[in-house]
Amino acid sequence: MLGNFPSGVAVIAARDEEGPAGFACQSFSSLSLDPPLVLFLVGRASASWPRIARAGAFCATVLGGEQGGLCRAFAVSGADKFAGVAHTPAPVTGSPLLAGGTAWADCVIRAVHTGGDHLIVVGRIEALGTTGDGEPLVFHRGRFRELRAPEGPGSGSARAG
Ligand SMILES: Cc1cc2nc3c(=O)[nH]c(=O)nc-3n(C[C@H](O)[C@H](O)[C@H](O)COP(=O)(O)O)c2cc1C
Repeated sequence: MLGNFPSGVAVIAARDEEGPAGFACQSFSSLSLDPPLVLFLVGRASASWPRIARAGAFCATVLGGEQGGLCRAFAVSGADKFAGVAHTPAPVTGSPLLAGGTAWADCVIRAVHTGGDHLIVVGRIEALGTTGDGEPLVFHRGRFRELRAPEGPGSGSARAG
């Protein structure tokens, strides 16, 4: 059922003494405006999570429409995912910020809650930005999709909250 709920995809990445670590994540979401908090859900079996937790910080890079291949590469456990992947240190925490995304948030981990076989990780945004107006990567029913603007009455812009 939840595969029918389309989402964007982010790479959650951190840097520890061994280098960069990260994974593809569709559960990245806003949580609070004041203070500015985001969250993501991570499986307890994740190999990256212990390294992200040790770093105490992460950068979420929202992937662009052309980055489906990159997303698949970051959905493989334990591989050297950063080989050949352009990234720069995020401004506050130094976590890896991937090139080619549409937006990013540089975060410090504020809380970790249990949620069944996943963990709910809350991060406080220390810096953020958008990078151009390119199309986002959309994940829906196990596939990457193109985002198309609806046509006709009722299409127009919408304001959240
Ligand atoms: C589009 C997409 C979205 C994903 N979203 C999540 C997610 O929100 N949380 C999660 O724990 N794994 C998610 N995964 C799976 C992880 O990326 C995958 O388990 C990966 O192997 C974890 O890598 P690691 O073991 O090196 O941490 C997603 C995979 C894909 C392809």
